[in-house]
Amino acid sequence: METLEKLRLGVNIDHVATVRNARGSEYPDPIRAAKIAEKAGADGITAHLREDRRHISDQDIERLVEILTVPLNFEMAATQEMQKIALRHKPHAVCIVPEKREERTTEGGLEVAREENRLAHFIAPLRESGSRVSIFIAADQKQIDAANRIGAQVIELHTGAYCDLHAEGRFEERDVELERLCEMTAYASSLGLEAHAGHGLTYDCVQPVAAFPELVELNIGHFLISEAVFRGLGPAIEEMRRLMDEARVA
Ligand code: PXP
Repeated sequence: METLEKLRLGVNIDHVATVRNARGSEYPDPIRAAKIAEKAGADGITAHLREDRRHISDQDIERLVEILTVPLNFEMAATQEMQKIALRHKPHAVCIVPEKREERTTEGGLEVAREENRLAHFIAPLRESGSRVSIFIAADQKQIDAANRIGAQVIELHTGAYCDLHAEGRFEERDVELERLCEMTAYASSLGLEAHAGHGLTYDCVQPVAAFPELVELNIGHFLISEAVFRGLGPAIEEMRRLMDEARVA
């Protein structure tokens, strides 16, 4: 029996802040959630400071930088405002995502190929300040090549389409998407990029992705925070960790 290298689990705590902000209260506190996640086996914490601050706030980021003992993956759009904030905090990793005000969530990957020059200049100071730069993209060779050319160290592949097809029972199309994700993970890794994946993953659909040999990290949020309502955040994360570990034993 062959066991693949352990997959890192980044827990996205954005939606703890979504619930807090729905009532303008002090609770639930995303920083408390981050501490529980650390104890439950999260290898990192992900937080997305959106332009409209609909969930995570500037103060949340400041507090996370202060208290975390695991790496912070700071998700942000490629704007001057966010670059300034990232350069001030110097998080372990910065993940550049596309952002549209009207979207419910990050719907697609970044169009790196179309904006190569601007993005190369945008990420250079982030890299120089010591943050690892990750680019959130679709499983598309053209985007991976562009991410590589601009100097990103990491790519995160968008698993949203795969998860949606799974949830809708469109299994043939799902398997085509899964195959594409698997091939592109291997391709990115062959270029020397560290391959991550995430978006929309649940207990039901995580294992086939977690089994990609070259994958290094999964970032999971919405489902874990939802599941925490029923079983508590620690146990919800521990079960995801268990499923991921199980998938690595081929
Ligand atoms: N990775 C990235 C880059 C994301 O933008 C998100 C959503 O904020 C996730 C992972 C986590 O997605 P989900 O909350 O659906 O698990």
